[in-house]
Amino acid sequence: MIRLPGLIDPHVHLREPGATHKEDYDSGTSVALAGGVTLVLAMPNTKPPIFDAATLDLVLDSAKAKARCDYAQFLGAGPDNGDWANHPSLPERSAGLKMYLDSTFGQLRLDDMSLWMPHFQNWPRSLPIVAHSESRSMAAAILFAAIYDRPVHIAHISLKEEVLLIKAAKERGIQVTCEVCPHHLFLTQGDIPAISHGHPGRGEVRPRLATQADVDALWANLDVIDCFATDHAPHTIEEKDSDNPPPGFPGLETILPLLLAAVGEGRLTLDDVLVRMVTNPRRIFNLPEQPETWVEVDEDAAYEIKAAESFTRCGWTPFEGWKVKGRVRKVVLRGRTAFEDGKILVEPGYGKNIRA
Ligand code: NCD
Ligand code: ZN
Repeated sequence: MIRLPGLIDPHVHLREPGATHKEDYDSGTSVALAGGVTLVLAMPNTKPPIFDAATLDLVLDSAKAKARCDYAQFLGAGPDNGDWANHPSLPERSAGLKMYLDSTFGQLRLDDMSLWMPHFQNWPRSLPIVAHSESRSMAAAILFAAIYDRPVHIAHISLKEEVLLIKAAKERGIQVTCEVCPHHLFLTQGDIPAISHGHPGRGEVRPRLATQADVDALWANLDVIDCFATDHAPHTIEEKDSDNPPPGFPGLETILPLLLAAVGEGRLTLDDVLVRMVTNPRRIFNLPEQPETWVEVDEDAAYEIKAAESFTRCGWTPFEGWKVKGRVRKVVLRGRTAFEDGKILVEPGYGKNIRA
């Protein structure tokens, strides 16, 4: 048995409000605990999107009643909510600001760079800005970090050109950090037929699965990658198999076993994982330590990933049938056993808003 600190996932979609048939604060934080994650940062691309005091209060009310692990909620950057200086308490109540600068699911996309400017100007420097940006829009986000002289965290990088540009930006002192998702480390475009089972929508995710050369470049430049994040983006299997499949993969329950399998193969060290799932996210997102919190993992337990055994409402996983080694046995969160041997043992509402 190995004992790890509680893991932090800075990028999850809990679908609350507006799409709780896919997931909600209860099911999503249960999946987190089952995956060894004790603190999640929830994205704002909900219905309605979370972009002001009223919508933040709306989601935080549900979270307070339902969450089983600790959490914070992102605000979203919209076309006309960049006057953050006029609402000083609002950013402090959030996980950070999420900016959608590229193809995504939901309504929070900012195409025109003049819409980015007030956010970069007015969002407090002590709180993170997270950019969903790909390729050239990522280069633009890094340029904004340099121009406005403030930190920017790039969500889910997937391409060789992206990791190389972030490396170069870091070498020049630009305040940029980044995260990578397990599906971009362990899957390529070539895996889409196997994931799809005849339903091509199941292979849809943003950013798209990339080439083997891209995946190799991520592994070759692990030192550039600050965090591992799931981008847990549940959509039901019926939605994924429909004519208009939304992009997104669930990931909270599979991140640790996949990474531990890579540790077992010598591709990573356990310390590489903990730096990227505890130390760095805590620093980048300015998160408190969780006292009396740990995860017990049976590193020798081999098993097969099965969506049917998961707490997620979405009913599928792109890693169905994968054989992994390393199972979360027990999670203790702030002194209470929150998960043990497949059972969630804390009630909805036990989870704490770490920004409250
Ligand atoms: C995300 C979702 O479903 O909310 N989908 C995805 O493919 N990653 C949206 C996003 O993060 O762009
Ligand atoms: Zn996302």
